Amino acid sequence: MFVKHIPVVVSSLVMALAVAACAPSEPASAPSVAEIDKAAVEEKLNRQDSRPNETEADNKRSEDIAFSTQAETDDPTDSDGRNILVAYFSRADENYNVGTIDKGNTQIIAEYIASEVGADSYHIETVNPYPANYDDCCDVAKKELADKARPEIQGGVENMEQYDIVFLGYPIWWGDMPMAVYTFMDSYDFSGKVIIPFNTHEGSGGSGTYSAIESYLPDAQVLDGMAVQGKTAQEFSSDTQQSVCDWLDGLGF
Ligand SMILES: Cc1cc2nc3c(=O)[nH]c(=O)nc-3n(C[C@H](O)[C@H](O)[C@H](O)COP(=O)(O)O)c2cc1C
Repeated sequence: MFVKHIPVVVSSLVMALAVAACAPSEPASAPSVAEIDKAAVEEKLNRQDSRPNETEADNKRSEDIAFSTQAETDDPTDSDGRNILVAYFSRADENYNVGTIDKGNTQIIAEYIASEVGADSYHIETVNPYPANYDDCCDVAKKELADKARPEIQGGVENMEQYDIVFLGYPIWWGDMPMAVYTFMDSYDFSGKVIIPFNTHEGSGGSGTYSAIESYLPDAQVLDGMAVQGKTAQEFSSDTQQSVCDWLDGLGF
């Protein structure tokens, strides 16, 4: 299957781009990307922290919030009153390098993040599921990419307005995000929100998707993302959890 060779090619490209990105184009005094990211998160979190305590009505509103496809917590805020959503696409079944799995690689990362920062979760799932067979799934995904398809997704996030920070997770498919992630981005107004991408892959890294999200959602503040190899997420859980924690620490969570 052609896509098995893609990671090597794409990762070389990504590496070349990364090297290019490190070229000294900024003045020495410019803040690093990490510093900018941390500041953006802190600004949002501080805004949340300075909000008045929840009223009974707020609590009632919180109870009403439900996710049609996956509600991992009943309360949309964590103990500090921060409104954070982890939205992710992830597919179980047969996949490259990991065999047949019960839980998708990206979902593993999504669950670490949600539990670490006390966020709600929303699993982006298509109405028509992807084939369980890896090769068949590659064929469907390739066609969707070529067609710029926007596959219908199940349910949705009710009350998206309440979230200031959205972690957006996905696997790399054919060097891009699964088209369902674009459907998700089309479905809500992300203006003013901080979007923090994360992804799994088998060699392509972020594959330019963080800047793709930035272009797609020009009114959101899109931070630099985190890329984890899918096999590592699936099979080396404590290493992965530590990497996620370190990354979140660096962002000020
Ligand atoms: C349809 C399809 C296309 C893929 N294309 C790429 C790719 O271009 N680059 C890459 O590094 N990995 C690619 N992969 C591997 C996935 O990115 C990787 O297995 C990921 O961890 C899957 O995440 P999930 O289990 O959360 O769905 C592809 C996998 C599938 C199923």
